[in-house]
Amino acid sequence: MTYDNVKVMITKEEIESKVKELGKRISRDYAGKELTLIGVLKGSFIFLSDLVRAIDLPVEIDFICAKSYQGTTSTGVVNVKMDTILDIEGKSVILVEDILDTGKTLSALRETLLSRGASDVKIVTFLDKPARRKIDISADYSCYTIEDRFVVGYGLDYDEKYRNLDYVGEVIL
Ligand code: IMP
Ligand code: MG
Repeated sequence: MTYDNVKVMITKEEIESKVKELGKRISRDYAGKELTLIGVLKGSFIFLSDLVRAIDLPVEIDFICAKSYQGTTSTGVVNVKMDTILDIEGKSVILVEDILDTGKTLSALRETLLSRGASDVKIVTFLDKPARRKIDISADYSCYTIEDRFVVGYGLDYDEKYRNLDYVGEVIL
């Protein structure tokens, strides 16, 4: 599907090979370990589904849905709208996110999961937008680092639309 106001930035083919490569890297890094992947909803649902199929390990999968509070000066406070189901006590966890922007969501979620007893929590993000970071946090794994542009597709939305694009594009407002 194409839109006049969405300029293609990363093609379907580029995404496919990058995600496969990342899956192989994670498979090597976590060989012999028990690994739980937790997708941050909603944006990560497509990335997570491709990534888990590229990981050659018996992973467990769960989801969490969080919104960072808007309009406050507090950092790293998120509202968990829908929580995980699996017990992560003593488990290695990877949080899977669509895009790392200010860092508020992921830093708060990482703290939450560590406080629940996860043995270690790493972060994988499909896109990284370091220019907008407000909290000192970096991804352990990422597919692409992008400039400060608003992008959609491959799970990312603009006003809840465009998540189903199989490429990533910049929205021309
Ligand atoms: P933050 O890192 O806590 O600021 O939050 C990241 C969240 O903001 C992501 O999960 C997205 O839902 C949203 N977001 C940030 N940048 C973009 C973008 O360029 N397109 C779509 N959503 C974005
Ligand atoms: Mg979003």
